[in-house]
Amino acid sequence: MRPKGLLVTIDGPAGAGKSTIARLLAQKLGYLYLDTGAMYRAVALAAKRRGISPEDEEALTRLCRELDLKLVPRGDGLAVMLDGEDVSEEIRTPEIDRLSSMVAKVPGVRECLKERQRALGEAGGVVAEGRDMGSHVFPDADLKFFLTASPEVRAKRREQDLRRKGYSVSYEKVLQEILERDRRDQEREVAPLVVPEGAILIDTSSLTTEEVLKRLLEEVERRLSSVS
Ligand code: DC
Repeated sequence: MRPKGLLVTIDGPAGAGKSTIARLLAQKLGYLYLDTGAMYRAVALAAKRRGISPEDEEALTRLCRELDLKLVPRGDGLAVMLDGEDVSEEIRTPEIDRLSSMVAKVPGVRECLKERQRALGEAGGVVAEGRDMGSHVFPDADLKFFLTASPEVRAKRREQDLRRKGYSVSYEKVLQEILERDRRDQEREVAPLVVPEGAILIDTSSLTTEEVLKRLLEEVERRLSSVS
């Protein structure tokens, strides 16, 4: 086993419930929650602030390399610090949803964030959540999960999420954006969204958060008892 505990990866499309489950699982296990989507979002926000176009691959790669970006455990979650400022809320807007999926296509940005993610996760004791955790960043992870749900269920969850935050959005628009993000995630040339080899696939469409968490914890227990 790794020095600090298991390295667990959770991948899947937007709205499959990954973030909630990854956060709760990390909390239960006393592991670090590595929210890699937040890192792409932070790059997108920094680019927007500096007036860098999401098409300018060279400038985005340079920006990522010099970015002062930190994920700091806070309460039961994670604070995203950009240039010393807490941007945890600001990276969760519909505009950053869209911009982050554009910067995530840039090979130089993916390479730069992969290095940062490995530095944070390789020793173990981590639940790493994203789109390419089990396939590219941590292919030798101890335990890999792939969470999914139908696009309609994912759009409904996202719509409720946005409404809670005070955005007035239509279900149809959210569904359309989810399908568009799926397409971009699956079709990009570098590290597209795939079910990683050896991953346990869970469809969360008709499961509660508690049920999904229970299922993951059972797998973790099984893995831990097989290495002890
Ligand atoms: O999970 P999220 O919605 O916070 O992710 C934001 C964007 O970043 C999303 O468009 C997918 C992309 N992403 C990625 O390409 N690879 C990851 N490991 C994590 C996120």
